[in-house]
Amino acid sequence: MAKVYVTRSIYPEALELLQRGHDVKVWEEDRTVPRDVLLREVADAEAVLTLLTEKVDDEFLDAAPHLKIVANMAVGFDNIDVAVCTRRKVVVTNTPGVLTETTADFAFSLLMAAARFVVPGMEYVRNGKWTTWSPNLFVGRDVHHATLGIVGLGRIGQEMAKRGRGFDMDILYYDVYRREDLEREHGWRYADMDTLLSESDFVTVHVDLNDQTRRMFSVDAFSKMKKTAILINAARGPIVDTDALYEAVKSGEIGGAGLDVTDPEPLPADHPILTLENVVVCPHIASASLQTRTKMTILAAENIVAVLAGDRPKTPVNPELVGG
Ligand code: DGY
Repeated sequence: MAKVYVTRSIYPEALELLQRGHDVKVWEEDRTVPRDVLLREVADAEAVLTLLTEKVDDEFLDAAPHLKIVANMAVGFDNIDVAVCTRRKVVVTNTPGVLTETTADFAFSLLMAAARFVVPGMEYVRNGKWTTWSPNLFVGRDVHHATLGIVGLGRIGQEMAKRGRGFDMDILYYDVYRREDLEREHGWRYADMDTLLSESDFVTVHVDLNDQTRRMFSVDAFSKMKKTAILINAARGPIVDTDALYEAVKSGEIGGAGLDVTDPEPLPADHPILTLENVVVCPHIASASLQTRTKMTILAAENIVAVLAGDRPKTPVNPELVGG
């Protein structure tokens, strides 16, 4: 029976799927599997279900000589050296599609929370500071009819645009691929990056992490944004320079931020950005609804089952290895 290693407890439906006809071992602790344990456990595995916390590189593949598939339970796969996997004929899969709307829902809620001081408001009440109604208490910025700048009009970016339209927002987008079809259909407007930065009240990031997007948001980008603008990042932490963001918000260069991802991740509890009340930070939970997390694990498991049966997985990252 083919051995499958799973790097965290997953939803029962997905586990049952894997257990049919495979010898499955799961890292049961709710913390990242230590690297030495991981490298030991994959020694006889033909398939591994990974999270974004597992680095899949030459060292990993050296330790896993029988490996046929790495099924990442995430749409992002910057934790995986895909070129190396391809060279070694290891199929890589991810989980696109099933988390799109859930992630956009959360990114939009970060936008709302940052614009309207939802988190400091709660803290204020919790700390017994609420003594009277005040015209000056937690006065935020309007979301409705504001301009939403979307950087990266992929699946999640498009869902953000739809949510923005529901709030009568004007939608600008920047992407390396211009989508005139969507512009015509929805009235969204393409803008070059500088125009988007200077005209948007909210800038929301939905690009992959790669060499072009790493630190895309740092001192230069912040200097081009409105002083009131709020930056949202639910993509990958290193796209935004956290220290530069702290300085930009603190000095009033920009208005605030809503982050689901950070650099470093996890963000240490004593990071100065956490002292700013116009910054909301959450622990990388944008796809964390029960329905979506279940779908993500099932899709990852289905990909493993397919590859071990010699079939094409549903969502390959290196399709050149699986044909079709
Ligand atoms: C992903 O899928 O890439 C997210 O960051 C986790 O859902």
